Amino acid sequence: MTWLLTGGAGYIGAHVAAELVRSGRPVVVVDDLSSGLAERVPAGVPLVVCSVLDTRALARTMTTYGVSGVVHLAAKKSVAESVRKPLYYYDQNVRGTASVLAAMRLTGAHRLVLSSSAAVYGSPPGGPIAEATMTLPINPYGSTKLLAEWLLDAASARSEFSWIALRYFNVVGAGSAELGDPGVSNLLQSVLQALTAGERPHVFGAAQPTPDGTCVRDFVHVADLASAHLAAVDRLETDAASACHYNVGRGVGASVFDVLSVVREVTGVDPGHVVTAPRLGDPPCVVADPSRIRAALGWSATSDLHAMVDSAWDAWRWRWADRPLIQREIAEVSGDVV
Ligand code: WQD
Repeated sequence: MTWLLTGGAGYIGAHVAAELVRSGRPVVVVDDLSSGLAERVPAGVPLVVCSVLDTRALARTMTTYGVSGVVHLAAKKSVAESVRKPLYYYDQNVRGTASVLAAMRLTGAHRLVLSSSAAVYGSPPGGPIAEATMTLPINPYGSTKLLAEWLLDAASARSEFSWIALRYFNVVGAGSAELGDPGVSNLLQSVLQALTAGERPHVFGAAQPTPDGTCVRDFVHVADLASAHLAAVDRLETDAASACHYNVGRGVGASVFDVLSVVREVTGVDPGHVVTAPRLGDPPCVVADPSRIRAALGWSATSDLHAMVDSAWDAWRWRWADRPLIQREIAEVSGDVV
């Protein structure tokens, strides 16, 4: 059974592609390389460069490779950008999902794993978030992910179509140094960038209703997230009636200050911090109740926050190692001898 990965050249997509290849499954990647990197696609895996909005190209690819299942990861994922460009996000993330579904209908592929997000919950009341928690997204990014889930529901109501939506919590780390997160907007990456630039990271508010006053999140290693996709693929290959969403998190909260503390442990350098104004729309606490995916798919996260930060730091140093200026800064900052 061949699986098509949209966005398979991206940060998360490349980890999922590697995981499926390791499982022995034939894989083909579709990516427009707007943010993905061709060199991240595992050796031997075909890469078709096209937009998911190009339904005909998708259908041609599915027919050419005999695709029977799709892991749909291609999407825009910046909360801040979605606020600035909402219609662009609806076009890319919702019309993109509709285009994938149309291509699947044309070619008979009828299994889909969707990359969804904890952002569908918006700012939920306190406590671990279960899948039954009301979905009230508070930004266009979260709304597009919820609408994508609704499209899957509509597709499965009409025909033989099975799907699983994975609601990612905060994904960090790297399965290997060359697959690190290339972004610098999320917390951990922004701290590593500040650290190597000799600046102090910004903490968006320290007066939240949380134990230490900073926001709490459920961080999950990207390698664990990739194994959750494998568990979903396994299930869809045997269950033709699946229509379900699962939270993908550890069920363990960590605050912004906790992350700074682990960064200090891992790098040997105290990043310091500057407290700035809270970010609009930032929920104080977003932590998963992962019991449903554990019970249904037998998946649980295995890496703790230290392992996540350690892998992210390794990837960060690998990424900048060939830049003498940055190399010197990293050496000075981390005390390594160059
Ligand atoms: C985490 C916390 C910030 C940067 C992410 C993704 C979204 C979705 C859910 C997958 C917040 C604080 C951040 C900084 C800070 N994932 N922060 N200083 O907002 O939880 O959303 O996870 O779909 O795609 O964006 O993640 O890493 O941006 O912020 O204090 O420089 O860290 O306020 O409380 P967020 P984040």
